[in-house]
Amino acid sequence: MKRYEALAADVEASIRSGLLKPGDRLPSVRQTGSRRGVSASTVFQAYYLLEARGLIRARERSGYYVCDSRPAPAPVPPEPDRSSQPADASIALDVSERVFGILEASMSREVVPLGSAFPSPLLFPLARLGRAMAAAAQSLDPWSTVDDLTPGHAPLRRQIALRYRADGIHVDPEDIVVTNGALEALNLCLAAVTRPGDAVVVESPTFYAALQALERMGLRAIEVPTHPREGIDLAALAHAIERHRPKACWLMTTFQNPLGSLMPETRKRALVELLQQHALPLIEDDVYGELYFGDRRPPPARAFDTQGLVLHCGSFSKCLAPGYRIGWAAPGRFAKAVARLKLTTTLSTSAPAQQALAAYLEGGGYDRHLRRLRQTLAARQAQFAQAVARHFPEGTRATRPLGGYFLWVELPPGVNALDIHREALTLGISVAPGPIFSAARGFANCLRLNYGHAWDARTEDALATLGRLCQSYVQVRPSIVR
Ligand SMILES: Cc1ncc(COP(=O)(O)O)c(C=O)c1O
Repeated sequence: MKRYEALAADVEASIRSGLLKPGDRLPSVRQTGSRRGVSASTVFQAYYLLEARGLIRARERSGYYVCDSRPAPAPVPPEPDRSSQPADASIALDVSERVFGILEASMSREVVPLGSAFPSPLLFPLARLGRAMAAAAQSLDPWSTVDDLTPGHAPLRRQIALRYRADGIHVDPEDIVVTNGALEALNLCLAAVTRPGDAVVVESPTFYAALQALERMGLRAIEVPTHPREGIDLAALAHAIERHRPKACWLMTTFQNPLGSLMPETRKRALVELLQQHALPLIEDDVYGELYFGDRRPPPARAFDTQGLVLHCGSFSKCLAPGYRIGWAAPGRFAKAVARLKLTTTLSTSAPAQQALAAYLEGGGYDRHLRRLRQTLAARQAQFAQAVARHFPEGTRATRPLGGYFLWVELPPGVNALDIHREALTLGISVAPGPIFSAARGFANCLRLNYGHAWDARTEDALATLGRLCQSYVQVRPSIVR
């Protein structure tokens, strides 16, 4: 048992035995830390765990309190359990304007960011990163403009390769291309394996930026049924390959955006075998892979690739350094093509930012930061799911992903997510409505909610307001129900 788990178990025992009573304030983090001889972060981890179990609750600027009632497990909404059913078609895209319209409206600090794609910037070790950045800028070797050109700063590529190796995946640092975030990596990989007019397989629903990239490059989308827990349906994928002859797949096998689905390892292996039979490249977007709540990182499909067909894309944006814009591609047999595309488009990635991240990773502490981040996100997911159960209409379903920071919420049929988005924005709340995740504008009654921000009264109020809005569509406005 880890130290924070042992501490959490002791506090839980005190609560269950009645030693600590509902409403009691727990000793401060500092007091508990010094009494138990553990660090503040260990105490925080223990308290987050107890919070996730519904035993204690934080009050702003006041500390942690034992919950008021003896905790029965708090109800959460049932999970959606049916795969999507997109049309069996290859679709020319026309989504980008609409996606921009919706996203731009939500970009304000004043808005409660339930529709955001980013976690709270306050969850990251920004001070330490800032020092690494300042040091990198001060000691910048003038020759780094040459040395750090694409494929990128060698020590950073080495650190990335070491992380692959720790997960049992062999990636040569020479075959890693450092990019401006994962989004550039994904776009370069897509350009490396397709030509305008080609068809590309995506999940249904899929990350809207994938649809926008396809549209910009004149590609067609084949949306394939996807299960909210287990990811893309392999039989449907096999059928789509036979019928539409795609030139690539763009998938998220781990904590898919927006569903949060995680393909079991056996299915990932079967996916790679299927693609290998057809020599079909897989662009694997794995930006949430580090944010798992289980005891180890789920292997990406890349782990099962024996032919260099998986172009694996990662990033530090979601787990370490948002805003630094450092991502990478490990594009297998397409590494050279991807590097050349970068050399002819953005040339290279910021040298000081690459050097700062390399220094941070070399200095240690990244895994400790990640453990804390995962713990926080897991606790927030529980709080969000319980709040959705409290406030949303009967018949609402919500995923319980095993990592990441999104809940996919299916509202009762007839509640229109685009209307909810519009009305919620006027009340200072953003949501990501289902239709932006679909070439065919499906998922009219679905929302993606981001639980990677502070859990506080403002957030709970926003969820209560959203719940009331959804409820009003179910009860009061049957004529609007479509
Ligand atoms: C699924 C997914 N892939 C890629 C990205 C882009 O990542 P980056 O910020 O590293 O470019 C995002 C960001 O929202 C994302 O959600």
